[in-house]
Amino acid sequence: ATRKIAVLVGSLRKDSYTRKVAKTLMLLAPPALELDIVEIGRLPLYNQDDETEHPPASFTEFRGRIKDVDGVLFCTPEYNRSIPAVLKNAIDVGSRPYGQAVWNGKPAGIVSVSPGAIGGFGANHHLRQCLVFLDMPILQQPEAYINGIANKVDAEHVTDEATRKFLQTYIDAFAAWVERNAD
Ligand code: FNR
Repeated sequence: ATRKIAVLVGSLRKDSYTRKVAKTLMLLAPPALELDIVEIGRLPLYNQDDETEHPPASFTEFRGRIKDVDGVLFCTPEYNRSIPAVLKNAIDVGSRPYGQAVWNGKPAGIVSVSPGAIGGFGANHHLRQCLVFLDMPILQQPEAYINGIANKVDAEHVTDEATRKFLQTYIDAFAAWVERNAD
C-alpha cells in the first residue's frame, strides 16, 4: 500500500535551501511513499481565543490534511538554535483543541538544514522535544543534519552527490519506519 506523507517545510523564503532538500527527498522517495508539501505560511498565529467559537478556516483545513496522512516529514532550517516560528505555529495549530491533536501516533522524520557547519542540530533537537510530547514515533537513525547546504544545491534541488546518497538512505529508512509504525 502507498503511504501518504505530509512534508512540512519550516521556511517561507522563495529560494529556501530547506525546500530544495525537501524537494530532493520527494524525488528520491520510494514508490511506497506519496509525499506532498503541506503549506504552513498562511496559517495565522495561533490564538487560543479562536479555538472553539471561530477557528480560522485555514486551521480546519490544515488539521484535516494532517489527519489524512500516514506520516509527517519535517524539514527545518535553524533560527537562533531552534525552529522557525512558522513551523512551531503549525505544530501548535495541529495540537489543538485540547485532546484533538492531529499529530498523535503519526510516524515522523526530522531533517534539519543549514549553510553552517553544524547542520541545524539545535533546531533538530528542539523539534524532537515537541514531537516526543505530541506522541509521534520519530525515526532515530539515521539522523539528518544537512550542513554547508549553500554549496550543495542548484536552483531546484540538492546536486551534491554525497548528500543525495545520504538523502536516499534517509528516505528509504523513513519509508521503512512509516511502514512499521503506521496504522
Ligand atoms: C538564521 N540562520 C541560522 N543558521 C544556523 O545554522 N543557526 C542559527 O541559529 C541561525 N539563526 C538564524 C536566525 C534567523 C532569524 C535567520 C533569518 C537565519 C541562518 C539560516 O540558516 C539561513 O538563513 C538559511 O538559509 C535558512 O534556511 P532556508 O530559508 O534557506 O531554508
